[in-house]
Amino acid sequence: MSNEIWVLGATGRTGARVASLLAGRDAPLVLVGRNQARLEPLARELGARAVVAATPADMAAAIRRDGPAVVVNTVGPFQHTGSVIADAALEAGHYCDIANDISTFTQLLGRDEAARRLGHTLVTGAGFGVTATESVVTWLTEGRPPAERVRVDMIPSMESTAGRLGEALAASFVEGLPGVGGGGRFQSRRITDGRLARARILSRPLQLTTPDGDAVTTALMPLGELLAAHNASRARFVDTASSEAPSGRAARVLLPAVLPLLHVGPLRRSVARRLAAVMLPDRPKPREHSWGHARAEWANGEAREGWLRLPAASEFTAAVASEVAYRLLAGQGHPGAYTPAALFGPSLAEDCGGEYVLAEALA
Ligand SMILES: NC(=O)c1ccc[n+]([C@@H]2O[C@H](COP(=O)([O-])OP(=O)(O)OC[C@H]3O[C@@H](n4cnc5c(N)ncnc54)[C@H](OP(=O)(O)O)[C@@H]3O)[C@@H](O)[C@H]2O)c1
Repeated sequence: MSNEIWVLGATGRTGARVASLLAGRDAPLVLVGRNQARLEPLARELGARAVVAATPADMAAAIRRDGPAVVVNTVGPFQHTGSVIADAALEAGHYCDIANDISTFTQLLGRDEAARRLGHTLVTGAGFGVTATESVVTWLTEGRPPAERVRVDMIPSMESTAGRLGEALAASFVEGLPGVGGGGRFQSRRITDGRLARARILSRPLQLTTPDGDAVTTALMPLGELLAAHNASRARFVDTASSEAPSGRAARVLLPAVLPLLHVGPLRRSVARRLAAVMLPDRPKPREHSWGHARAEWANGEAREGWLRLPAASEFTAAVASEVAYRLLAGQGHPGAYTPAALFGPSLAEDCGGEYVLAEALA
């Protein structure tokens, strides 16, 4: 086994950020991408080796050939790349990705036994959505009996630079809606009585005021946060919501009616292609901070509510993925499959620029 960290999708928005953070640390770095003309100058700039691989299957073959110590996968949609890359990576070393959809989580966390047998660590969800919310839940519930109810809300504040949305992000939106048990494919999910159950997408809108005084509305979105928050709290009822979910009345009425059309394969692929071509504007962050928020309630009537204040969601994603990769290289992981706070505890988010705020402290 080599001692290299490989960053897959290094020419992408997140991959390039992760690569530049890792380049500042004492780890031999390898950038993997499909576009040689963009990959090689970036690798030279960061003092890294470049590996050109056209597809996720080619990336998996290169990983099997060279046996890197840690693979960071930023190539979405992770339902298509997670298992194929993780299986190759775990043969020789550790794996980490920035997935946040329920079906990928089910596939990857289901490799816990295999990872233990191999003596390696798999970390999925090493990005803003999962880490910000599961960290607050862990911080609020650690050392207490299982909660009865938990709701987590992710509230990113993201700048965008002008350019195409891109196929990875577009396909994650379109393909990422659950392909797992507990309901239909293009529906939301919640945990009810300890199990995945169907929920109406964009339902349960909630108005929140962040500790900075910004008003935001969140509504149910079926993301990987749901499984992470459930694992962290062991609550019987769990809801996961996002401020990125359109919470206006029109969207709440129309979207659930339109989403079943995505069952039609050619239509779904056409929607993903059109979405990928959407041009993002140059846009500053809408709020100074991004937030993870959670409220936990226990059967005895006790409730705790807290926030995780973060710089920009995209910076936090890169900080978490690079920090997790570096800790895995340093041998700080344990064999098995985890989400980031389940492996490293709530202090990981603080080490990546986050600050916890207890809601009582705001009163
Ligand atoms: N968990 C979180 O909170 C979180 C946060 C941010 C992003 N994400 C997810 O992470 C993924 C990446 O996001 P991003 O904004 O960094 O996207 P991006 O800028 O489009 O980058 C995607 C990267 O993957 C490469 N790629 C895409 N499809 C490929 C394929 N079929 N074969 C080989 N390489 C391929 C792209 O190569 P080219 O450069 O050649 O196009 C690019 O390097 C998305 O799925 C997104 O949903 C999650």
